[in-house]
Amino acid sequence: MKSYSIALIPGDGIGRDVTGAAWSVLDTAARHAGFALAGTDFPWSCKFYKDTGRMMPEDGIETLRGFDAILLGAVGWPMEVPDSVSLHGLLLPIRKAFVQYANIRPHRLLPGVTGPLRAESFDILCIRENTEGEYSGAGGRVHQGTLDEVAVETSIFTRAGVERILRFGFEQARTRRGKLASVTKSNAQKYSMVFWDEITRKLAAEYSDVVVTSYHVDALAARMIMAPESLDVVVASNLFGDILTDIGAAIQGGLGYAASANINPDRSAPSMFEPVHGSAPDIAHLGIANPIATIWSGAMMLEHLGETAAAGRIMKAIEATTARGIGTTTGKDRTETIAAAVVTALS
Ligand code: IPM
Ligand code: MN
Repeated sequence: MKSYSIALIPGDGIGRDVTGAAWSVLDTAARHAGFALAGTDFPWSCKFYKDTGRMMPEDGIETLRGFDAILLGAVGWPMEVPDSVSLHGLLLPIRKAFVQYANIRPHRLLPGVTGPLRAESFDILCIRENTEGEYSGAGGRVHQGTLDEVAVETSIFTRAGVERILRFGFEQARTRRGKLASVTKSNAQKYSMVFWDEITRKLAAEYSDVVVTSYHVDALAARMIMAPESLDVVVASNLFGDILTDIGAAIQGGLGYAASANINPDRSAPSMFEPVHGSAPDIAHLGIANPIATIWSGAMMLEHLGETAAAGRIMKAIEATTARGIGTTTGKDRTETIAAAVVTALS
């Protein structure tokens, strides 16, 4: 029987609640489809940091490299470890080391979920550059603590980095409705964003079957609220994509439904799948976190592994569950109840 090795990093807070729940769904779907998922748990988290002084062991990246995929819950427990330490010690190094340059986030309403907008029939695929740009981590501080203090944080945009994420977006648009929105702020940022616009135009000539529109990020943010049905694939830089995908999560009913995939398209290293929501300390371990975002992320994982039929069946089961009003009202259903309903819908 075919078997995939999955590294499970539940992490902090509700990350622990939702990965366990999602795993029961993934495991059931795998058994029905005739393949196996072999999960290995890693306790890397803020608790691990408190115990060892590191978010993951020194050879953590090398340990993960041998897996077929990574399923991650959430990282962060700011009461104990500053977010700037925990994120730069676990989530962000994995994205960079494994060249997971495409962060894919689908935004659409599941049946039975009420979003905040009048428009209901939108289906947006946000693709966020995930390894460079504004989150490159290049910078420094001088004269710290004095009135003369200076902080510099430099965005880095490389031709290779911009071209590959845009190309990925064009390819995705081809498999969907053939529309691509390329997001910049080239009216204000005249180097990096003009560069991005130029590369968009260069690739547009190659993909003449895709309709491309360049938007400024402020206008695109408004469009996601006012006319979300007009959008198909959206490609944006790391920072802009980060912000736009929280809008995407909001219009799809909340972070409880927002799934994501950190993809290494070349498959030279494992990809990582995680819900967009964080560790949510306020509801951690109460058993009321919505596991749907993680289950959906798990379906994206199976799709990436080539198990398209199983992935499709999980999406159908999620939809059947929310259509029955399970997992559609914050705090009404327990994490386990929602996951159990998805498992039932699979059979
Ligand atoms: C996300 C998160 C992370 C990011 C944070 C926690 C570093 O907000 O995945 O959207 O911005 O990448
Ligand atoms: Mn974010």
